Amino acid sequence: EKGGYEHFMLKEIFEQPQTIFDSFRGRLDAEQLRVTLSGLDSISDKLLKARRIIIVSCGTSWHAGLVAEYIIEELCRVNVEVEYASEFRYRNPIIDENDVILAISQSGETADTLVALETAKKQGATIFGIVNVVGSSIARLADAGVYTHAGPEIGVASTKAFTAQLVVLQLFALRLAQLKGTISDERFKTLIEGLAKVPEQVDWILKTQKATIRAIADKYRGSSDFLYLGRGYNFPIALEGALKLKEISYIHAEGYPAAEMKHGPIALVDETLPVVFIATQDPFYEKIVSNMQEIKARKGRLIAVVSEGDTQAAELAEDYIVVPQADEILAPLLSVIPLQLLSYYIGVERAVDVDKPRNLAKSVTVE
Ligand code: M6R
Repeated sequence: EKGGYEHFMLKEIFEQPQTIFDSFRGRLDAEQLRVTLSGLDSISDKLLKARRIIIVSCGTSWHAGLVAEYIIEELCRVNVEVEYASEFRYRNPIIDENDVILAISQSGETADTLVALETAKKQGATIFGIVNVVGSSIARLADAGVYTHAGPEIGVASTKAFTAQLVVLQLFALRLAQLKGTISDERFKTLIEGLAKVPEQVDWILKTQKATIRAIADKYRGSSDFLYLGRGYNFPIALEGALKLKEISYIHAEGYPAAEMKHGPIALVDETLPVVFIATQDPFYEKIVSNMQEIKARKGRLIAVVSEGDTQAAELAEDYIVVPQADEILAPLLSVIPLQLLSYYIGVERAVDVDKPRNLAKSVTVE
């Protein structure tokens, strides 16, 4: 049932061209310039009135929420807050019937998320679920929603469910922006055409970068700490890269917004510390390159994820991985792929049971 792969995690990473496609199939029409999400349309009055959207989730799903915050604010011009479900539920949050809560969960059974939603629902908020498991508790509790079509995810470390969440969140932002009139036809067209290309771009990364990523994993597998840095839409991907590494290799890793490193983490940098930069072509590129120079000056070991055709970041780095160029809003879907694979190979090299790492459960049904 692992389809010839050594682990479920590897199978699930390699399924992503298909699961990304499945998550937009029937919902995105690049020719007619249309995004169809009937779940969203069914609460469009609430969404158009809402002064803010609150995203509630945990772990990797929380990282998808952070990416969504950037995308929804940019495209829909509405305030978005992203909350850890466990914090949100206990701090007596101020919620009323004008609030829309976006719940993101692979399993649909995460206890903290579920209880946070129940509380918000009692206070009158509208709950919109982005869930993978059909008929799960969160899906049933939601007033409306959209399923991600990642299929069953067995590996404890979330991979294909995360990229499916990103796709659905992008569709959500595009449809809402269209309803609100906050996106130009041209931008809309660029983004849906770009999204339609993502499956083949992910496939390209998996096929052409696998050997490089394996070699990088082999080279750095003995490190005791890693730092992951990114900016803008790729900042949450730095967090996700670090989480994946912690979960399946037991190596300590931290993700940070690249500019924030000067405010503390840079003190960690020495000639033993691998620093993974997400340095793809986007409006932050020059800034990222200068952050890389700062790390290099302190002898940190630079590993970079760069866009095809890159010169500066690739040249600065000791090792680099290439991803295709994409619109900055779509970029996280590509830049996360090499980080998933890097963690996988490091985990395997360190003989960790990557599908079932110690102390972790696939769904956290206790608080
Ligand atoms: O099922 P959920 O999306 O609600 O789960 C949330 C987290 O428990 C989950 O993403 C966890 O962080 C994963 N182990 C990440 O790989």
